[in-house]
Amino acid sequence: MPAPPLKPDLEHDVARRRTFAIISHPDAGKTTLTEKLLLFGGAIQLAGAVKARRASRHATSDWMDVEKQRGISVTSSVMQFEYAGHTINLLDTPGHEDFSEDTYRVLTAVDAAVMVIDAAKGVEAQTIKLLEVCRLRNTPIITFVNKLDREVRPPVKLLEEIEGTLRLDCAPITWPIGMGKSFRGVYHLLTERLLRFQAGEERRTEAEVVEGLDNPRLDELYPDQVAELRSDVELIRDASPPFEIDRFLAGRQSPVFFGSGINNFGVQEILQALIDWAPPPQPRDGGRPVHPAEGPFTGFVFKIQANMDPKHRDRIAFFRICSGRYRPGMKVRHLRLGRDLKLGNALTFMANERVSSEDAVAGDIIGIHNHGQLQIGDTLTEGEVLQFKGIPYFAPELFRAARPRDPMKSKQLQKGLQELGEEGAIQVLVARQGAQMLLGAVGRLQFEIVAHRLAGEYGVDAVYDAVDIFTARWLTFPDDATRRKFERDEAASLARDVDDNPVFLAANKYNLKLTLERWPTVGFRETREHGEKLAAA
Ligand code: G4P
Repeated sequence: MPAPPLKPDLEHDVARRRTFAIISHPDAGKTTLTEKLLLFGGAIQLAGAVKARRASRHATSDWMDVEKQRGISVTSSVMQFEYAGHTINLLDTPGHEDFSEDTYRVLTAVDAAVMVIDAAKGVEAQTIKLLEVCRLRNTPIITFVNKLDREVRPPVKLLEEIEGTLRLDCAPITWPIGMGKSFRGVYHLLTERLLRFQAGEERRTEAEVVEGLDNPRLDELYPDQVAELRSDVELIRDASPPFEIDRFLAGRQSPVFFGSGINNFGVQEILQALIDWAPPPQPRDGGRPVHPAEGPFTGFVFKIQANMDPKHRDRIAFFRICSGRYRPGMKVRHLRLGRDLKLGNALTFMANERVSSEDAVAGDIIGIHNHGQLQIGDTLTEGEVLQFKGIPYFAPELFRAARPRDPMKSKQLQKGLQELGEEGAIQVLVARQGAQMLLGAVGRLQFEIVAHRLAGEYGVDAVYDAVDIFTARWLTFPDDATRRKFERDEAASLARDVDDNPVFLAANKYNLKLTLERWPTVGFRETREHGEKLAAA
């Protein structure tokens, strides 16, 4: 079937979209930067609103108990705002140490990412993990080196660390003058202008234009620091290749900005980089490349959030539109279930409220009320048979066996886990021998959330026992005979996932290695696509 023609009105609207996430290690300043971006974008009026909103959500929702107890934010949401003629979709990733599969999946729905680095700490563990996920799709990365108002590491060393640890070439766009108490601002290497730092200033408009590195005004302003600035810039210009948009768009080079989020410094430059350089929605692989400006509506579910409104016990499916236009009341095809679905009143998530979506195009995220019919990875279209790819399950690294405290409740436990598994809150595996229910997670917090929800929504108080499992691998077989032999010989290590796919459970690293060697023709996969069926070939 030939691809549908592109529509000029859509091309125009899509070109104005920027959909991105902020990635960082906890405490690097993601929340602060989010808030400042919203503030500069005019989406909120007061600094502190994002934190306050989180706090009030904590107060009103019992689902947030886990967050409250742990003092962290586990939910991620979407914030849409307008800036300089563009519609910006900022997808929040959960910001805690114990991150979960949710974090990964949010990154499948964005076209770019802003990476925040704490300049005192450098590249930290979680940043490395998140960047690996970005790399799966070559997501373009803009880097914000934060907290220059503190005593931090030398900027040149920070760049070396980013390049070395993350294997990402850096192209500094601004260069700091001093740090900590003597932080004076940045020199913009492309516009050749000085941007002066004043702590806490809400909106920075330069009272005076200071242009050019040789400008004697720099000597007047910063007699003690100008020599270092000049030599740094010379060094940087010699050592790093200039910013190249194509390399940025290929995910190979990152423009780097220095600033201080809490002091509103450097934030405007990030917004400008998003508008000028970050890509608008790109074609997505749905079995064929689906262009965002094609007329028919398509997209996929990348996240399901339960109980956003505790009064309604609702579940919202977060849906990334890949092409076409959403219209209230439209009928769509649910490909996995093979039936039609009416999209009644989808939601748009504004910075501080959720409203009925009237008009949304590729790049936008809409929230669809979900009564169990939608799972992560589900594709909706206006009839064409498509399946968007790139929304993986990752092999769990943490395991628990679940059993109800009251044996009479085992049916409820099964039902609850089946639903939570389908929703993607946790991976549920059933051991082939003994039919034990195993929970697999990427982050420890997933267990807490599942326990909390099983108790609250399904009335099951369960016990979660530690088990001796190191990791899991999805299996593919070259033929039926090999599958049968494997199932017989390795029966004690076999399980099935929620979609009935065969899974190998390795007790330890050594066991995994030996099994791999013993079965050279069997595939042991670390990821699987949502909705994928791994039957014998
Ligand atoms: P996160 O979402 O990445 O976890 O980080 P968050 O923005 O909450 O920031 C973590 C801490 O770093 C906060 O301090 C925040 O105020 C501080 N911070 C953020 N940006 C800057 C900056 O540019 N300079 C300096 N000096 N500090 C910054 P906190 O004490 O943990 O919280 P709070 O009491 O300030 O809210």
